[in-house]
Amino acid sequence: MLHYLFVMLLKTLQPYATFVSINGYQEAIFKRSSLPRTKCHDIFRNRTIATLGYGPQGRNQSLNLRDNGFNVILGLRKGPSWSKAVSDGWSPGIDLFDTDEATYKGDVIQYLLSDAGQIQMWPVVKRNLKQGKTLYFSHGFGIVFSDQTGIVPPAEVDVILAAPKGPGGMLRDKYVKSNYASGINTSIAVHQNASGNAELDALALGFGIGSLNIFETTFDREVYSDLTGERCVLMGMIQGAFKAQYDVLRSRGHSPIEAFNETVEEALVSLYPIINEKGMDWMYKNCSTTAQRGAIDWSKHFYSLIRPSIERCYDDVVNGKETRRVIYCNKNPEYRRQLENELNQIDDQEIWKTAKIVRELR
Ligand SMILES: NC(=O)c1ccc[n+]([C@@H]2O[C@H](COP(=O)([O-])OP(=O)(O)OC[C@H]3O[C@@H](n4cnc5c(N)ncnc54)[C@H](OP(=O)(O)O)[C@@H]3O)[C@@H](O)[C@H]2O)c1
Repeated sequence: MLHYLFVMLLKTLQPYATFVSINGYQEAIFKRSSLPRTKCHDIFRNRTIATLGYGPQGRNQSLNLRDNGFNVILGLRKGPSWSKAVSDGWSPGIDLFDTDEATYKGDVIQYLLSDAGQIQMWPVVKRNLKQGKTLYFSHGFGIVFSDQTGIVPPAEVDVILAAPKGPGGMLRDKYVKSNYASGINTSIAVHQNASGNAELDALALGFGIGSLNIFETTFDREVYSDLTGERCVLMGMIQGAFKAQYDVLRSRGHSPIEAFNETVEEALVSLYPIINEKGMDWMYKNCSTTAQRGAIDWSKHFYSLIRPSIERCYDDVVNGKETRRVIYCNKNPEYRRQLENELNQIDDQEIWKTAKIVRELR
């Protein structure tokens, strides 16, 4: 018997929420229409948002905020990000500064450096965090693993999170292509609410960066689910599973294109879009009875095989092993080059070489 669960995490946002019940668990959803753009502007009137970092998140969140009429400045070091920002129309001394100056000028500090960069720049950011300011993250990493990152904000500042559920480029593309009407989903959370307004600020910024629907989370839940997701089904497992099946088919005498078509092409081009549009059940119901019988039987086998690995991964995320490894690797000056080699090795695998040929044929 399922218990009826109702956990409204961000209590002052109740008037903006719509609720859905999923298997007895009631979840809050904040739809774009719940907080019009003019209200978001009112919330940030006379406040400057300083975006630190111009990677996928910093670039696209700051451009969406700027297009949305918020007062945005950037804080960057001289280098590739700085040059990119200039070519996107940001002007040095006007709305483009070094990290220290932007953090000093900003009321809301969007901390969107790489997670490793956040650790390095923390002393600079911290010294500019005075009462009344807000520190904003798009990932719970720095705060949740503060014993490893050293990121402990002063108690008198608000600390909030808005984490888009996808790459920054997609956040902007969908938003711009839909004429600023649509976007991707985002989770928001509050870690410190010194002002008492942090929850509404997080919601308004979530919409300001171009989100479609917003869901509530906590810093812990965001980082645990995000790190587990990318290590498992979203990235780690998918590469492992595709390559395992491809290698079996190749070792049993199938040609590269046949192995690729049965492993990747059919998945990405035919079946996954159907799952996305109509659901897993619909996809199962609309394939052959031969496929149905085998897939239902084998799905149970894979569930029991994979679930323990995902449990282990989740444990290693929570106990800090995964973040410790990320921080340790990024501290090594040689790491960028080693990582580049590892990424090139994926590119060099036969399965992904075949992918290039098959893509050309589409
Ligand atoms: N990418 C995603 O899909 C995604 C999704 C949701 C949330 N997030 C989170 O968003 C945050 C930003 O991620 P991202 O992917 O946009 O960026 P990223 O690629 O991880 O970081 C790139 C930015 O960090 C700067 N940077 C790195 N080290 C620095 C240092 N020591 N001093 C100053 N600047 C430094 C880089 O500047 P230079 O160009 O000068 O090197 C660049 O502007 C992270 O917390 C991430 O976990 C990412």
